[in-house]
Amino acid sequence: MNPINRQVLTLDEFTIQQVRQIPNATGELSTLLRDIGLAAKRINVEVNKAGLVDILGDANATNVQGEAQKKLDVYANTQLMGVLRHGISCAGIASEELDDFVPFDDDISRNSKYVVLFDPLDGSSNIDVNISIGTIFGVYRRVTEQGSAVSEADFLQPGLRQVAAGYVIYGSSTMLVYATRRGVNGFTLDPSIGEFCLSHPNITCPAKGKIYSVNHGNFFQYSAGVQRYINRLQKKGELPTQEPYTQRYTGSMVADLHRNLVKGGIFMYPATFQNRDGKLRLMYECNPFAFIVEVAGGKATDGLNRILNIQPTSLHQRCPLFIGSAQMMEELENCLMPATTTHG
Ligand code: AHG
Ligand code: MN
Ligand code: MN
Repeated sequence: MNPINRQVLTLDEFTIQQVRQIPNATGELSTLLRDIGLAAKRINVEVNKAGLVDILGDANATNVQGEAQKKLDVYANTQLMGVLRHGISCAGIASEELDDFVPFDDDISRNSKYVVLFDPLDGSSNIDVNISIGTIFGVYRRVTEQGSAVSEADFLQPGLRQVAAGYVIYGSSTMLVYATRRGVNGFTLDPSIGEFCLSHPNITCPAKGKIYSVNHGNFFQYSAGVQRYINRLQKKGELPTQEPYTQRYTGSMVADLHRNLVKGGIFMYPATFQNRDGKLRLMYECNPFAFIVEVAGGKATDGLNRILNIQPTSLHQRCPLFIGSAQMMEELENCLMPATTTHG
């Protein structure tokens, strides 16, 4: 039998080690990340069975207990809420699946210091066709006093105030990647032991990339500046980096951004003439990824402003997103500047 490889740290071991390195740390954030890891494992089990849904019953069917079966994104939402409500670190949550935020109003939760915003399952249109989907989350320290129930002000904080952010990708393997200001680390689920194991320590986003990800179907709805940038990417020699670029777009931002984070690249969901604020949600899609990518050395803007500086006004607001490798982002910014001469 092979000796156990003690070089490989589980998510739990890793987060505990992090606590040991920070003087006066209470371990609440570590507990919270481990809670999210548990929900991710439960969601993963159901996501893996998605192809069987027509055989085992769909969203409108009833299960053996006579309960209505839930859609996968509702299931994911319930799992995340459950672990956070029953854990000791979270005072309340907001989710893509819920109109309003939810205060956890019991004695322990009222005294917890964090709130979490999440998209429980992103890329839902890809579930039926077996393409990677994901979970996205951002963690903030509450601004109201511990001991009271959380209020909207705890959630409507600029992304810069995140203390941690992460995502889970249900892909060819299942991974949990999270960032704190100390760095970005990726853990791959080892199904044989049911644990997330540190597989991608200290992820950095290459300054240069070769990949761009955008929905080309909307090309003629983008601003002149965005069209100019895409045109330049396609013409070898138009941009200073002289890279031959390749286009990749799955329709699951978790998959597209995970690849671009690891390999280098840019992801864009610009405003269109129809949707002036784009499609993606600031609080639980753009902010967590902006935080992760910035910690990894990249950049994220709405075309004008740094995403992490945007003062939110509502939980579900949308915003355009441009995010990725620092050098590609700088080239994009040059193209978006109104004074830039048109290159077709
Ligand atoms: P949803 O939140 O409805 O699952 O949408 C997925 C998001 C994001 O993951 C993806 O990058 C984008 O929508 C794709 O949208 P388009 O099909 O409009 O390109
Ligand atoms: Mn979703
Ligand atoms: Mn989503």
